[in-house]
Amino acid sequence: MADKTETSSGKTFTLTNDQTGDKWVLPVFDGTIGPATIDIRSLYEDTGHFTLDPSFTSTASCKSRITFIDGDKGILLHRGYNIKDLAEKSSFLEVAYALLYGDLPNQKSYAEFSKNITYHTMVHEQLQFFFRGFRRDAHPMAVMCGVVGALAAFYHDSLDISDPKQREISAHRLIAKLPTLAAMAFKYSIGQPFIYPRNDLGFAENFLHMCFAVPAEPYKVSPILADAMDKILILHADHEQNASTSTVRLAGSSQANPFACIAAGIASLWGPAHGGANQAVLEMLAEIGTKDRIPEFIQGVKDKKYRLMGFGHRVYKNFDPRAQIMKETCDKVLAELGVTDPALEIAMELERIALSDPYFIERKLYPNVDFYSGIILKAMGFPVSMFTVLFAVARTVGWVSQWKEMMEEPSNRIGRPRQLYTGAAQRDYVDINKRT
Ligand code: ACO
Repeated sequence: MADKTETSSGKTFTLTNDQTGDKWVLPVFDGTIGPATIDIRSLYEDTGHFTLDPSFTSTASCKSRITFIDGDKGILLHRGYNIKDLAEKSSFLEVAYALLYGDLPNQKSYAEFSKNITYHTMVHEQLQFFFRGFRRDAHPMAVMCGVVGALAAFYHDSLDISDPKQREISAHRLIAKLPTLAAMAFKYSIGQPFIYPRNDLGFAENFLHMCFAVPAEPYKVSPILADAMDKILILHADHEQNASTSTVRLAGSSQANPFACIAAGIASLWGPAHGGANQAVLEMLAEIGTKDRIPEFIQGVKDKKYRLMGFGHRVYKNFDPRAQIMKETCDKVLAELGVTDPALEIAMELERIALSDPYFIERKLYPNVDFYSGIILKAMGFPVSMFTVLFAVARTVGWVSQWKEMMEEPSNRIGRPRQLYTGAAQRDYVDINKRT
């Protein structure tokens, strides 16, 4: 496995206090690739100062061997493998194995892993009664936050986080059960019976079957749609230390159980600045409605009345490699289904205008993975409220891999950021009847 443990580069970074002239020499660490990091772990103890980086634009929160992103060059590697190769040549379960264990599986380990995941696809029968407690019109992400967190109440035999075997079982359970729970959330929202998983089907195929089959008649999943779903899952599988992954790590650093940690990740993913963007893109396209309204909409974006959803990324500042693959997949799915979606025409025109407009060029705003995923999912028959749920199904693999890596790190301690306090200094308590 190609990786590198934490080693000082021998380089240092000197910090000078302009008031006192004191100097501190800080060690610098090199990763395998990517920017070097200045080790500030002893900064507070040595200098009495914190660092301030509220949105983590310059802070590496952990060491990791899982995913590498070069945002300027549009590179995304999982365990060193390029996302384009993975999307074109491998399967979601192969990628899941690589993310969890460090290497792509050989035939034997792939067969074992697939069997393990398949074995865990069913959920405790009692869970369906848990579902029935929700309103039918609940947002499926609200349902997912609840039911995934509730898995801790059903699988007591994999909650001992100090036991590597139990950690592995809970990781397999989460990867295997998320599609089942997501499909149940969908079926519940449309008032159809739950469809049990089928172990003779592939991962993506089984998921589509659980979503779209009904007990009254046979249902055959289109291989092109199963392949597209597999690609969508691969493209969303992991993305380094993004908001939801950092949430999972922070929750896990307190030794919380993995089901609770992944539920926390789902909550974080839900926001429109993160996983909720694919839903927001479709809502935006529907609101624009017709191509002739695009210039007015673009002007509104420039006037900062709203954002162009599906555009921009904290890390990618040239292009999002996932978006390019997603666009190709989108074309295939629409051709297979014979769908001509006016939303796609608006999306294409928006993309063309935005990519040639100085406002977007100067700010390095390009389509991200979510710009096209919504159009594919809509064509497949998913309502917009399910889009972020599908993202959660895929990202669960990244979350559990990052959580597992953190739990295996001997120096793992609870994450506890500090703050720059800007509130009132200590003041006297005034009795309520004397307050103005
Ligand atoms: N539309 C219009 N303008 C934008 C957009 C956008 N989508 N994104 C950023 N900008 C502008 C900002 O207004 C700002 O302009 P200014 O310099 O004139 O003030 C500049 O670009 C920088 O924006 P920031 O908010 O500082 O960029 P940041 O890195 O914090 O935000 C984010 C990244 C949240 C993804 C942002 O681009 C955004 O809101 N995009 C739309 C939502 C979206 O698609 N999210 C999905 C992300 S991918 C994922 O989670 C899978």
